[in-house]
Amino acid sequence: MSKDTSVLLDEKRVFKANYRIVEEAHVKNWEAEIEKGQDLEKYWSEKAEQFEWFEKWDKVLDESKKPFYKWFTNGKINLSYNAVDRWVFTDKRNKVAILYANENGEERKLTYYELYREVNKMANALKNLGIKKGDTVSMYLPMCPELLISMLACTRIGALHSVVYSGLSVGAFVERMNDSNAKVLITADGTYRRGKIIDLKKIADEALLQCSTIEAVVVVQHAGNPITISELSGREIFYDTLIDGESDECPVEEMDAEDPLFLLYTSGSTGKPKGVLHTTAGYMVGVATTLKNVFDIHDGDLWWCTGDIGWITGHSYAIYGPLLLGTTTMIYEGAPDYPDPGAWWKIVEKYGVTKLYTAPTAIRHLMRYGSKHPNLYNLSSLKILGSVGEPMNPEAWMWLYKNVGKEKTPIMDTWWQTETGMHMIAPLPISPLKPGTPTLPLPGIDADVVDENGDPVAPGKGGYLVIKKPWPAMFRTLYKDEKRYIDVYWNKIPGGVYHAGDIARKDEDGYIWIQGRSDDVLNIAGHRVGTSEVESAFVSHPAVVECAVIGKSDPIKGQVIKSFIILKEGYQLNTKLIENLQKHVRYELGPVAVLGEIQQVDKLPKTRSGKIMRRILRAQEEGEDLGDTSTLED
Ligand code: PRX
Repeated sequence: MSKDTSVLLDEKRVFKANYRIVEEAHVKNWEAEIEKGQDLEKYWSEKAEQFEWFEKWDKVLDESKKPFYKWFTNGKINLSYNAVDRWVFTDKRNKVAILYANENGEERKLTYYELYREVNKMANALKNLGIKKGDTVSMYLPMCPELLISMLACTRIGALHSVVYSGLSVGAFVERMNDSNAKVLITADGTYRRGKIIDLKKIADEALLQCSTIEAVVVVQHAGNPITISELSGREIFYDTLIDGESDECPVEEMDAEDPLFLLYTSGSTGKPKGVLHTTAGYMVGVATTLKNVFDIHDGDLWWCTGDIGWITGHSYAIYGPLLLGTTTMIYEGAPDYPDPGAWWKIVEKYGVTKLYTAPTAIRHLMRYGSKHPNLYNLSSLKILGSVGEPMNPEAWMWLYKNVGKEKTPIMDTWWQTETGMHMIAPLPISPLKPGTPTLPLPGIDADVVDENGDPVAPGKGGYLVIKKPWPAMFRTLYKDEKRYIDVYWNKIPGGVYHAGDIARKDEDGYIWIQGRSDDVLNIAGHRVGTSEVESAFVSHPAVVECAVIGKSDPIKGQVIKSFIILKEGYQLNTKLIENLQKHVRYELGPVAVLGEIQQVDKLPKTRSGKIMRRILRAQEEGEDLGDTSTLED
């Protein structure tokens, strides 16, 4: 393993659950639940009983073709039916399913019954566009109800959705759209960002020039951006026109438990982004169970996951998890500090949010403005807070705990990934908490910290985070790339365990402290950004011959990108070129790629086989020992 520069935080504070939390909790006895989770098949089959199945499964877990695990084999079920229709036949029929609000103070509410009709109409419309079971629909949309409706419409008819985060730009978008073989693209006239409208249709138009598979483009008129569609091309249509006149009854597709559900792309350290493929029943069981237990969801809750639906957090916990539990999910389009740093707290007060799930980067960002803003609002509706995406610094944890939770609401720091689909290492509301750690593996999850040989490391020592037994919401493969699936995740550590790509330590209580990625993947504001994607974006600029990027710590973003570039002859790195490069990379990748310093170099450290040794650049940058340089070429 590469030189371990991480320091185990000397964090000794422990926060115990209060009486009220324990009284309400679905899981009141942690040890007993862990004990139940030992019998994987029994545990997860009990959890699967919460859904309506068209046909029950034969076998809970099929391990005959490791690492291609199957869950609930031969079961027949539909996610959209369980997330929407199921509630329409109960007293939740007129309960608000989706509560949308935005930075302009506008709101939209959809009850379960209204959602049902919208999803059915869109499902029929997609069928009319030629979408069948197994086809892929790409979406490049803001956080708006039409995104949720479209996703649910896809899963209703068995089509896969591939949502591309609306903060990604042309290059990243093209790569994802082409790899997924999407037939239809759903996009919008724009999204609101800090008082401005970002023209998504314009970005989509540019991306479409490089895509050959798209047969129809559906445009949601969301932001009042006066765009025109090229009706002449015959493939563009406004969303409202498309669904106009469609019947609000569309038969549900009976999906096999293992039928593909959706694709979601995530960055890897090398090559193109990875198309993470999730399948139907296991994903449903995993997300619903974890949301219910980790955030203790009850009927009266107003759940707000601030994560964008373009990422797995939004898929699992802004839409599918909450709707599968019949809860109200709040969807917010806007930044945490716009129009002022109290924007989020105002929303909590206005709507009475009970559970708030967010990211460390947002908390660090809001912390800068001090405690004044949360103190201006009545936040007493909040019962549980949560965090995901990167290590939660103890300072940020304490700030949130004191100023937002008023020392009453526990903070669920949840560790998981696009690939895991669901929370894996996380507390339950009854757990004793320590600021900075997601605590222990959840019931039914076998996670550990091991060395290169797969042997557990002693407490306090760094090692690789692995998952030793399969879990229901696990991804099933990388789309069109089984070899990469096996190589990246299953062949790295002996013993057939899942290699998460993170470095971690356990403390003497077994609590797991995540230290960061072990590969060349950057974590910028909780978003995975592949070094290779950024480097390719640089190299596609006419002035750049070669490039290497590393992550540099940043107090707000977690990491920013430090770039080392070799320029073509005749080019000089001056302010103008730097600006130009920044613009270029942003055009290719979008604002997710937060560029820090760009440095011109003559040479990059490489292995004899020509691989860039980013580790050396990192060590040099941090003024540390270069470590083992025996494979260095020069
Ligand atoms: O490095 C870990 C970090 O985010 C990575 C997964 O990124 P992604 O697939 O984009 O999913 C993010 C949302 C689920 C992990 O490999 N990470 C995620 N949650 C935590 C975390 N690091 C520390 N603490 C967490 N709670």
